[in-house]
Amino acid sequence: MTHTNALSDHPTRGGVIRWAKFYDRAVGIISMGREAAMRNSTLERANVKPGQRILDVGCGTGTLTIAAARRGATVIGVDPAANMVRRAREKAAAARADATFQVGVAEALEFADDQFDMVLCSLVLHHLLPSMQDDCLREMLRVIKPGGQLVLVDFSGPSPLLHRVAALFRSHDHEHLDGLSHRLVDLGFENTDRAPITPSYLFCMTATKPATN
Ligand SMILES: C[S@@+](CC[C@H](N)C(=O)[O-])C[C@H]1O[C@@H](n2cnc3c(N)ncnc32)[C@H](O)[C@@H]1O
Repeated sequence: MTHTNALSDHPTRGGVIRWAKFYDRAVGIISMGREAAMRNSTLERANVKPGQRILDVGCGTGTLTIAAARRGATVIGVDPAANMVRRAREKAAAARADATFQVGVAEALEFADDQFDMVLCSLVLHHLLPSMQDDCLREMLRVIKPGGQLVLVDFSGPSPLLHRVAALFRSHDHEHLDGLSHRLVDLGFENTDRAPITPSYLFCMTATKPATN
């Protein structure tokens, strides 16, 4: 597919990151050099399999998206920031990965119902206002196939100091994720399961969309 550079940001009330050039370095610092372990432990937990069709919501510069594609899945990443999408496309092209990227937002996913075996959403929920989160999770549920899986990664407690300093410059509070498991069940997910991943200040929550009878 040919991509032009004529991309623009998608409006959202979420906390958009536009500094794509520095994002990967920032993740390296915040994870204290453990980004590869972080991505691997996410994908191990997600149990990504070859041939799966996966959507990565809030993909940023696409590191996780590309890592999932390297495991044989076909992966689409969406992010509201055109800069992030451009950077992700460059990285995927360099890696020759089966990953494509488009501008988009979690609260209005531009995909038909029941499309994906899995939705990944890594380090994004805390960028969404509490008033948006349920709508975003509902959208993820809508696009997952019956029996498919949601995989959420976020901070389990106080995030690293550098991240908290960065959050001071955001226009809204760092959002808590209390009661996430119950909220997922209320929204229609089942089999929620939460486990620590690497680094230890992150958790990975998995949940499934009920299979139709
Ligand atoms: C901390 S980054 C995480 C990026 C990537 N998932 C990762 O694991 O490195 C949060 C991302 O969420 C994106 N974001 C903000 N608001 C969003 C929204 N409404 N829908 C989808 N993504 C959003 C930001 O632009 C940013 O790229």
